[in-house]
Amino acid sequence: METLEGMKRTHHCGALRKPEVGQEVVVCGWVSRRRDHGGLIFVDLRDRSGFVQVVYDEAAMGEEAFHKAETLRSEFVIGVRGKIRARAAETVNPHMETGEVEIVCEELRVLNSAKTPPFYIQDNIDVDEMLRLKYRYLDLRRPEMQKNIMLRHRVTKIMRDYFDRNDFLEIETPMLCKSTPEGARDFLVPSRLNPGTFYALPQSPQIYKQILMLSGFEKYFQIVRCFRDEDLRADRQPEFTQLDIEMSFIDQETILTMMEGMVTELFDKAIGAKLKAPFLRMTWDDAMERFGSDKPDLRFGMELMDISEYVRGSDFKVFSSVLQNGGQVKVINVEGYANIPRRELDGLVEYVKTYGAKGLAWIQYTEEGVKSPFKKFYDDTTFEKIKEACHAKTGDLLLVIADKPLVVAQALGALRLEMGRRRNLIDPDKLNFLWVVDFPMFEYSEEDKRWKAMHHPFTAPRDEDVEYLMTDPGRVKANAYDMVLNGVEIGGGSLRIYNSDLQEKVFEAVGLTPEVAHEKFGFMMDAFKYGTPPHGGLAFGLDRLVMLMAKRKSIRDVIAFPKTQSASDAMAQAPAEVDDKQLRELSIRTAVTAKKK
Ligand code: AMO
Ligand code: AMP
Repeated sequence: METLEGMKRTHHCGALRKPEVGQEVVVCGWVSRRRDHGGLIFVDLRDRSGFVQVVYDEAAMGEEAFHKAETLRSEFVIGVRGKIRARAAETVNPHMETGEVEIVCEELRVLNSAKTPPFYIQDNIDVDEMLRLKYRYLDLRRPEMQKNIMLRHRVTKIMRDYFDRNDFLEIETPMLCKSTPEGARDFLVPSRLNPGTFYALPQSPQIYKQILMLSGFEKYFQIVRCFRDEDLRADRQPEFTQLDIEMSFIDQETILTMMEGMVTELFDKAIGAKLKAPFLRMTWDDAMERFGSDKPDLRFGMELMDISEYVRGSDFKVFSSVLQNGGQVKVINVEGYANIPRRELDGLVEYVKTYGAKGLAWIQYTEEGVKSPFKKFYDDTTFEKIKEACHAKTGDLLLVIADKPLVVAQALGALRLEMGRRRNLIDPDKLNFLWVVDFPMFEYSEEDKRWKAMHHPFTAPRDEDVEYLMTDPGRVKANAYDMVLNGVEIGGGSLRIYNSDLQEKVFEAVGLTPEVAHEKFGFMMDAFKYGTPPHGGLAFGLDRLVMLMAKRKSIRDVIAFPKTQSASDAMAQAPAEVDDKQLRELSIRTAVTAKKK
């Protein structure tokens, strides 16, 4: 193999254009494509900036040098010195940014050879993601992946500039923390120096950033790794990155405005999208009522409508029993789809069952009249009234779910999204932002049979609801807010409790006895007795935000080295077993032996 000695790169491949014609340049990179025309070889050379065509002409180079060009294969690493030449009109490649020029090679250095990659290094490849993750170093070479990672860099750079300009300080907080209850499952790290004890990796810097407020830093931000041992989905990773912020002496509106400013600047500078601030603000109650979701996708309509009053008091047991038990009957209108095939309807019944609904009914307003599984229980005027109330037309399809409000919201909300996709109602180019505000303070956990903090237990309840903390936790609303983009929760936060008595009450409401609260959060409660300013903040999911900006479906596409669905690193093969000696040093014995592959 050769070296680059005496050959200094002058240009990046993707930067060459007409004005460089006639210049001598040196470029370096990987062989992307090689076409051999006998006596003439064309190579598309790739570096992170893009591609350029290099021409090897036997007549001009001489036989020996040309022979070297014949040995080039995909992904060989080369250096090329040559002259830029304008391509003849008929050979201009309009699909290539450098398609008007080419480099006529005068000197070729083969810097390294390469094995044949397990997949093509190009965009839109159709390969199993596991293979991509195993060979992540090659996957990351693909232009679309390079673009995603570069976008991510731009995003964090713009964020840092924005917050710096607005007087925020970036302050690092520990990765080795204390395990505290009331969140997702922690990742634990054994302490060698304190046998039998464990650190937890932070699920977020929540407690530290609040302490920074009482230490007087006033405006904090951090782009920080967080760890949660949860079941994974397309938009969840066990380690992910947050843009974390906290501010003192502010109200909720100040925080929302500051974040809108950041997001507006970010979308403009990073992807040239012009957003209109302020964003829509919708209460949690409204979002659930109208869209069946606390992160509604407002790129299309199809709102949930309540038809309980029209179907009450009939012999149709499904509806009457639900309504007698405090439930509701709600519909969505799938416009122009009254002729839905029966098979698809049957499929939808199964679909809503996966979201906890017991069944699905429908009303088809066809030219031949109404079709519905509950037609015989109501007269024609009822169906007419429903039609009018739902602004339905002949040709429309109403899908109906009867259940407890939370189940209706979940199932019909999911069905709305599914029908939006199937009917092609969601414009992928739209960017729809909103704030969901006034979240409930608590949600009831059927699994644990107790109330849990919906956001986290440091969130301030609304002043006027404090009196119901113990007596009626379900009605307490919090000063908490989420930012939603195209149906994805990209960030969330709250005003915080800064009074230790109120904090103790909230711990009690979520079932933490004063003793347990003191053991787990004592340091924080002590700290808060030394003059805590009113404060609040929020955190954005950086991975999700970049995913949406890059128009990807999975956050794995915007993380250089993500984990697989089973939380492992397919390239480095982590997690893995460790030596007995390492375990002994940590005073740890495992109860299971990992399955050998
Ligand atoms: P929260 O738990 O809502 O709030 O998290 C903030 C944002 O982080 C993103 N996110 C995730 N992204 C990828 N993978 C995950 N497993 C994951 N979990 C969360 C989401 C979410 O909106 N300390 C509070 C913030 C605060 O109150 O200031 C917090 O962590 O986009
Ligand atoms: P069943 O009495 O279970 O056979 O249900 C009669 C019809 O009621 C079914 O064909 C469904 O269309 C409808 N149905 C059943 N459960 C529900 C529900 N929870 N919500 C809406 N419609 C339902």
